[in-house]
Amino acid sequence: MTKLAIIGGTGLTQLNGLIITKRETLTTPYGLPSADFITGEYNQKEVIFLARHGNPHTIAPHKINYRANIWGLKHLGVENIIAVAAVGGITPEMAPAHIAIPDQIIDYSHSRLHTFFEDENYPVTHIDFTYPYNRALRAALIIAAKNAEINISPIGTYGCTQGPRLETAAEIKRMEKDGCDLVGMTGMPEASLAKELEMNYAAISVIANWAAGKTAGEITMAEIERHLHNGMIKVANLLKAFISQSY
Ligand code: HPA
Repeated sequence: MTKLAIIGGTGLTQLNGLIITKRETLTTPYGLPSADFITGEYNQKEVIFLARHGNPHTIAPHKINYRANIWGLKHLGVENIIAVAAVGGITPEMAPAHIAIPDQIIDYSHSRLHTFFEDENYPVTHIDFTYPYNRALRAALIIAAKNAEINISPIGTYGCTQGPRLETAAEIKRMEKDGCDLVGMTGMPEASLAKELEMNYAAISVIANWAAGKTAGEITMAEIERHLHNGMIKVANLLKAFISQSY
């Protein structure tokens, strides 16, 4: 059976309902991962859970050791990764508390350690990244959502910003012109590192707020928390449906 990992982001520091069987602290050639790798039974199936921002949530998006996280999952034999992340909604369909399974990425992040392929361990290799998310995993998530009657957007372009600040209204306007539907801070280099190590990676984006300038006022943390809470209930249902269908 293919090993499945779930990477949880803001609003998903732990997987409620996971019956923990093992907790592994790894040191990797790239330093320390964000947290222990938690193995457990979720919906009667084995999954490995990793809290992207640490548990408790303390690591800023640009400080996450993405290489250590992905290397650690590979080391543990993981083949499939479902990455859950909070985002802002840019295009009209992407309303707060809604869920999307993005199919494309535009990377606006910078200065992050973003590749394994730069030394004698992994000589320079140019991976194909035309379709950044694994198509079979995405399809399985979309079918699971349909079967469980969870309303999702089955496509969307995810723009990854550097953070930790949110964007300006002008930045969001530019991103929308570029074709972004969603804006987040952690989708890259996570997705490309997984691809570099030949792991299947798909994302569930949980919309926490309208992106900057999409409403009259400013974005408040209280609204983000409220919408994330509601969105994460749908995510848990989606993950359960996906796992019972695919594993
Ligand atoms: N921008 C970037 N990242 C985010 C946002 C946002 O508006 N909301 C949640 N994560």
